[in-house]
Amino acid sequence: MKVLVIGSGGREHALCWKIKQSPFVSHVYCAPGNAGISKHAECVDIKDTDIEGFVRFARAEEIYLTVVGPELPLALGIVDRFEKEELRIFGPSKGAAEIESSKVFSKNLMKKYKIPTAFFSTFNDFDDAVRWVKEVKPPLVVKADGLAGGKGAVICKTEEEVFDALDAMIKGKVFGDAGERVIIEEFLEGEEASFIAFTDGETVLPLESSQDHKALLDNDEGPNTGGMGAYSPAPVVTPVVHRKIMEEIMIPTVNALKEEGRKYKGVLYAGVMIKDEEPRVLEFNCRLGDPEAQPLMMRMKSDIVPILNAIVDEKLSGKTIEWRSDASVCVVMASRGYPGDYKKDFEINGLKDVESMEGVIVFHSGTALQNGRYVTSGGRVLGVTALGKTVPDAIDLAYKAVRLIKCESLYYRTDIGRKALKYL
Ligand code: AMP
Ligand code: GLY
Repeated sequence: MKVLVIGSGGREHALCWKIKQSPFVSHVYCAPGNAGISKHAECVDIKDTDIEGFVRFARAEEIYLTVVGPELPLALGIVDRFEKEELRIFGPSKGAAEIESSKVFSKNLMKKYKIPTAFFSTFNDFDDAVRWVKEVKPPLVVKADGLAGGKGAVICKTEEEVFDALDAMIKGKVFGDAGERVIIEEFLEGEEASFIAFTDGETVLPLESSQDHKALLDNDEGPNTGGMGAYSPAPVVTPVVHRKIMEEIMIPTVNALKEEGRKYKGVLYAGVMIKDEEPRVLEFNCRLGDPEAQPLMMRMKSDIVPILNAIVDEKLSGKTIEWRSDASVCVVMASRGYPGDYKKDFEINGLKDVESMEGVIVFHSGTALQNGRYVTSGGRVLGVTALGKTVPDAIDLAYKAVRLIKCESLYYRTDIGRKALKYL
């Protein structure tokens, strides 16, 4: 069968790499893809917002299965459009994807169905918000309602910080329409984990646990990014926490969406804050995490393609996934300046040396090929991902590989995975 993967990041590289290994798959396309992806898939120049372009391509190439990586095409309704054309596609409908694309929808759903999360209120008027903040008192988190590329949440320790964030979002429209409505919520303490599951709207099949490192700098300092590294498994998700997340969060949420007439098919990702083994939801995403997907795909032993097809066919019941017992760590190498402005087109050397290392794969995000050489072309550039018997082994191997990659403009955190060590 022919498979089309939509997207161009490290997550999509990991997906293409994994899908390509399936004996059921004859050809993998990726749109738009990147230089690294072009080793595992044929890249096609269609932008991830060009829904009609994808419909035409899937028809013309007789694509059996389309897999959507990022949230934007999902929020634009690509799944509804494909289903109307009777084309097979993996991902939630536009209505179901609102669990990520509208924080107001997501928080109200959690409130209605008593899914544990921070208390909150919704505002589109600056003065109303100010009155509420004066009553409840910081620390608080201000969040834009709509998609803001992972930058829509501002943690505020003082009233002034809350007012500045509100001012920027409601009056200054720094996130455009996405910030017209805001959520203000309780600041939750604890340790974060990513809990990601496959679901066909009835059955919830969890992936292994993982943890992302959102802050730019070591020790979780500096501004938030899309993710500077990830590891799996995340020991903060103990068996007790795992059971609670499934019983109190994942299953009730999938049932709630069905109840609301928005049956959810695809990947449901809960960002959870865990304190004293009590998980609470920070956010839901309607897709795999990036960079969490990179270690997860490396650890997945089973063929992913029958699972994706079972979800499309709503026949996930009884399916299981086999995982390697190894841990996996992904260190992101990003352009200096990211998540702000950065320069591009710096040559990347050493990738060949890393290719020959067993247990290491470099997933590409922002890379391009110029005269046969890899150059930087985005904020996050590479996700150097390694397997190891234990998290420390995987950390050592990943950083050994990172040090072989030579590029003057690349920066990386030096403490990816370190949070897991306190549990060992
Ligand atoms: P979000 O855009 O909702 O994913 O939030 C981005 C990041 O902000 C999360 O990964 C957390 O690190 C942090 N965050 C969001 N909401 C809260 C909260 N209520 N309490 C503490 N930290 C939060
Ligand atoms: N790594 C966080 C995310 O994908 O949203």
